[in-house]
Amino acid sequence: MPFAFPVSRIPDPADAPSLRWGILGPGGIAHSFVDALTKHTGQRVVAVGSRATERASAFAGVHGIPRAHGSYDALVSDPDVDVVYVASPTGQHHEHALLAVAAGKHVLVEKSFSRTAVEAREMVAAARSADVVLLEAMWTRFLPHMDVVRQLVHDGVLGEVQTVIADHGQLLTPDGAPRLHRPELGGGAVLDLGVYPISFAALMLGRPDSVVAAGEMAPTGVDAQVSAVLRTGTAHAVVTTTLTARTPTTASVSGTAGRVEIAADFYTPAELILTTQAGWHVREVDAIRGHEGLCYQAAHLAQLVGDGRRESPLLPLDETVSIMETMDEVRRQIVAG
Ligand SMILES: NC(=O)c1ccc[n+]([C@@H]2O[C@H](COP(=O)([O-])OP(=O)(O)OC[C@H]3O[C@@H](n4cnc5c(N)ncnc54)[C@H](OP(=O)(O)O)[C@@H]3O)[C@@H](O)[C@H]2O)c1
Repeated sequence: MPFAFPVSRIPDPADAPSLRWGILGPGGIAHSFVDALTKHTGQRVVAVGSRATERASAFAGVHGIPRAHGSYDALVSDPDVDVVYVASPTGQHHEHALLAVAAGKHVLVEKSFSRTAVEAREMVAAARSADVVLLEAMWTRFLPHMDVVRQLVHDGVLGEVQTVIADHGQLLTPDGAPRLHRPELGGGAVLDLGVYPISFAALMLGRPDSVVAAGEMAPTGVDAQVSAVLRTGTAHAVVTTTLTARTPTTASVSGTAGRVEIAADFYTPAELILTTQAGWHVREVDAIRGHEGLCYQAAHLAQLVGDGRRESPLLPLDETVSIMETMDEVRRQIVAG
């Protein structure tokens, strides 16, 4: 008999209450984000802010956004904006999230949340004190297939989880975006790509008791290739990330009763393959695919606001800080090593 995968509990993103969004930093991911919102949600993008008026106007023109601001200050001061999406380079997230929080806005901050755990703690403290929603845009957490994986583990289908394996490597050297090679912009493999397998390991195993990492630095001073073992009790997560090769970008969770493999690219909407003693079963990819899946995190934040909640149960702020601490430790070891 075919296995019935658990049904995803992630709501239809079109059903979330409609918020008025302001886009901070009209770069590559901001385009994908606005496309996803427009296509799959009732969220309204009402303003965009850039360090240059012409770039804000160009972005607004592409997406039909009513207001273009020539500074981030003007964007966060816009009284018609409920929530700011911080899509600047990772090295700027701390400054820009604090700016939006100080203006009383809810904030969705692109991954990685910040450069360090110290920055992350300051951002979290500011949001809690301002009573606004602050959410890390680790969009994978909010995707339907991840909720299915979460249920497979929780329901004991895999038995006791022993091993988590996940990777994210892209060939981004030497031609990738300049920000990836600049430490002050939060470049490097760990902060840009490794955050996905590290966050996935945290979802499956919680905070690691110990971290052992090895890595290679690029001449530009960012980490280029990093692998780490994150140990929680006797369970191991093995994560690897690189800017120097396209790796499989898959993930798996193996337990005493079975394993689930998440096909490439595991951090986007992806196929699941479950293997148990009863055989193997495939769950097909969800209807919303690729970066259009960015819509789920926005809908989740809008629902939190609609419900009067300030923190996500799917990605609590303490966990975001803990993930930053793990990344701090990984990076400390490879620089030291
Ligand atoms: N979720 C995902 O799948 C995904 C994918 C790619 C990237 N990201 C994340 O999204 C963030 C942005 O990445 P991106 O690829 O969109 O970068 P990008 O194309 O370089 O865009 C970043 C934008 O930030 C603004 N900015 C503010 N301060 C800046 C500075 N000092 N240097 C350069 N730009 C600055 C720029 O806009 P103005 O100067 O016009 O204001 C620029 O357009 C990063 O944190 C990255 O990790 C997420």
